Amino acid sequence: MRMWSIFVILSFLVPLVAPINVSAYMINQTAANISWIYPLDTNNPDDISLLGGMIKGFYVIVFAPLSMQPPIVHRNYEGTIGTRYWDIVGNLTPGTTYHAQVKAFTKKGDGKPSVPYIFTVPKEDFSE
Ligand SMILES: *[C@@H]1O[C@H](CO)[C@@H](O)[C@H](O)[C@H]1NC(C)=O
Ligand SMILES: *[C@@H]1O[C@H](CO)[C@@H](O)[C@H](O)[C@H]1NC(C)=O
Ligand SMILES: *[C@@H]1O[C@H](CO)[C@@H](O)[C@H](O)[C@H]1NC(C)=O
Repeated sequence: MRMWSIFVILSFLVPLVAPINVSAYMINQTAANISWIYPLDTNNPDDISLLGGMIKGFYVIVFAPLSMQPPIVHRNYEGTIGTRYWDIVGNLTPGTTYHAQVKAFTKKGDGKPSVPYIFTVPKEDFSE
């Protein structure tokens, strides 16, 4: 019984929800501003407990499924719960289609990943 209750308490330290409203805004030919929201339900006591600072940050994962490029993974600690978080991801290749996903992490593990946001970096074109 005692072991079980410890297990339940620890499992609450993992983020419960996936980030939402992930989007990417191109800054230049190779860098994008990825932004997202971490939705907390203030009526849910488990979510409120996350407000106590147990989220250590976010993983921002940008990968190109149709290319051999390795995924770009950032650990992002910036931001305040309830506001729009963001992270600048560079080294993108023009003309490539990327998927951007974000997940929260705590000391105990990773939360659910967001739905991928799919974007294509415009090809360089100096003729226009
Ligand atoms: C998230 O995106 C949805 C659909 O685009 C929009 O209706 C909603 O207002 C957005 N939420 C926030 C907090 O921006
Ligand atoms: C694009 O923007 C990023 C982030 O601001 C910067 O580090 C990079 O040098 C810029 N690249 C070019 C080609 O301007
Ligand atoms: C990135 O996007 C966020 C949300 O739209 C914005 O608040 C932030 O200023 C942007 N950062 C840069 C460097 O453009």
